[in-house]
Amino acid sequence: MLRRTHTCGELREFHVGQTVTLNGWVNSYRDHGNLIFIDLRDRFGLTQLVFDPDNGILADMMAQADKLRNEDVIGVEGRVRVRIGGENPKLETGKVELVVTKLEIFNKTDNPPFLPDDLTKLPNEELRLTHRYIDLRRPKMQQILQTRSRALMTTREFFHSNGFLEVETPVLYKSTPEGAREFLVPCRNVPGTFYALPQSPQLFKQILMVSGADRYMQICRCFRDEDPRADRQPEFTQIDLEMSFVRREHVMEMMESFVRSFWKSMCGYDVPTIQRMTYRDAMETYGIDRPDTRYDLRTTDLSDLAARTDFKVFKDALAKGADRPRFNSKRGVVKAMRVPGGADKLTRKITDGYSDFVKTFGAGGVAVTKYIKNDKGELALDTGVAKFLEPLKADLVAALGLEPGDTVLFVADAYSVATKAIGELRQQVARDMGLIPKPGAEGGGGGPWNFLWVIDFPMFERNKDTGKWVAMHHPFTAPRDDQRDQFVNADVDDEVAIESIVSAGYDIVLNGSEIAGGSVRIHDKAVQSKVFQLLGLTPEQAKEKFSFLLEALSFGAPPHAGIAFGFDRLIMHLCGTDNIRDVIAFPKTQIGADLMTKAPSQATDAQLKDLHIKSTWEPPAKA
Ligand code: AMO
Ligand code: AMP
Repeated sequence: MLRRTHTCGELREFHVGQTVTLNGWVNSYRDHGNLIFIDLRDRFGLTQLVFDPDNGILADMMAQADKLRNEDVIGVEGRVRVRIGGENPKLETGKVELVVTKLEIFNKTDNPPFLPDDLTKLPNEELRLTHRYIDLRRPKMQQILQTRSRALMTTREFFHSNGFLEVETPVLYKSTPEGAREFLVPCRNVPGTFYALPQSPQLFKQILMVSGADRYMQICRCFRDEDPRADRQPEFTQIDLEMSFVRREHVMEMMESFVRSFWKSMCGYDVPTIQRMTYRDAMETYGIDRPDTRYDLRTTDLSDLAARTDFKVFKDALAKGADRPRFNSKRGVVKAMRVPGGADKLTRKITDGYSDFVKTFGAGGVAVTKYIKNDKGELALDTGVAKFLEPLKADLVAALGLEPGDTVLFVADAYSVATKAIGELRQQVARDMGLIPKPGAEGGGGGPWNFLWVIDFPMFERNKDTGKWVAMHHPFTAPRDDQRDQFVNADVDDEVAIESIVSAGYDIVLNGSEIAGGSVRIHDKAVQSKVFQLLGLTPEQAKEKFSFLLEALSFGAPPHAGIAFGFDRLIMHLCGTDNIRDVIAFPKTQIGADLMTKAPSQATDAQLKDLHIKSTWEPPAKA
């Protein structure tokens, strides 16, 4: 076999005169009369090959070369020479070419469904995923795989050098309470029982702290049976870690140091001190707990001003939960957002669409007004709800800092609904106004990079569908240190009190996406029992589900805390893509399918029998 001495990205002028062997894929083929030019590709680059009968190539080899087509896999031996047709500055190997003297064809390809070429228009994603082996040959995909591999190494290096122990935890596991639906795996040995695939190694890493591991890390696969989104996969990778004898500050400090070293090593960017924002400030100013601070659109609570108008929509909203304290989820508010320069750019058609847009988040609509010059040349409120606000113009201008040419958008509803709706609207407005910088605009890699800590989350929120309390992070998250007594003594029926308890959780947000989340854990049984009680678990149920954890916590548990990074999301940011499937070698589609292997697939009757399982599924009747 003609085994390579160099890669296709390696040859330079100083190789001229040497005899070398290359292996790779035919990337392109050009026939120039009696000369044949081929660009040979491997994951390291491209090299131009020349088949030239004047250079002593035998006629039968010339005939073989003539039949080569894109994606054939070959080996060639030849002599490196300065490129006769002139340098190709686009290629790293562009100063030289290889004059072939021996050719071996390893594999002649069938006609490929598409070419792995970043220059031509990409085929649809379905075709790319079905033939992922071809798609992964594309230079862009090769680059992503390399970035990912380098990121894995950089991560391990950081944690190993900071005294973290890498420990693998089981994948065949028991239900965990991260809140997503789980994947179940039937157990053949104990008929009728199931493993669950871990949503994260949360409980194992806490147990490892009780075991004295002190500092744990793992780059692990997590499984969540939820609907995939642009930044979500049912099977994804976390950088998971946990530390003993620490409080919130210590984990945040260590993570900041990790983020800094990671970004420096991955793209040479110096991450500045990461600003902190409380959950409340994030919700108040941006309407979301993972604000994208690359653009400066802000939301403001204008309830007091709105209460002085005669606009029924505002009045009705403000009448909701008026006896509840500020920030309570059910108390009515009027939220406003100033859009600088919106009067021109946000056309009537666009702002009309905003009402439908916020309806998908449960709000009634969007009220609009503009601050522009009227016919008389005076600055006035114009269109939409202008007539209700005109009497309060001076106050509105002062409250929002309005400038001529601005648009103001209002959403009135219960706090949780209005906040969420205006937060989502903020992102839509940013897209419509072209405020979101393109990845790569500044700061190396996919920058600009706007990192943010979000802290002081509520411990609990109401599940939208069931109305029951759920842990906002997970049920092992501790209340913030100063909230412990208030929490343990809180009346479980006092909705307002429970909603106001703040946790010791923390998230890292990057450009509006949550890249990491973690918390200080409960290592105190009174607190843990109270959490279970609030979540509606009886002591018996809690014991049945988590006895191992509760037991472990009662046999010498150190104070501990941790966090997990969404590894795929880090790579998405570094590679400047907003599609998580781009950064995973073999990802799943929107319905969780692997188009290449055709998983999931049906089990045979014999397999099901072994597992004591019968499928109740029937194909839908044909209409
Ligand atoms: P959490 O559920 O917040 O925390 O997950 C941590 C991070 O993992 C990423 N992530 C995902 N990435 C891709 N696809 C998904 N379906 C997906 N779900 C989550 C996010 C998120 O910030 N055990 C806790 C961590 C801890 O408390 O230490 C946990 O799993 O970037
Ligand atoms: P209406 O009086 O229902 O015709 O609504 C007048 C304007 O108020 C329309 O532009 C609606 O989109 C808007 N609107 C309706 N409900 C809300 C709401 N909850 N918050 C803000 N604006 C709203």
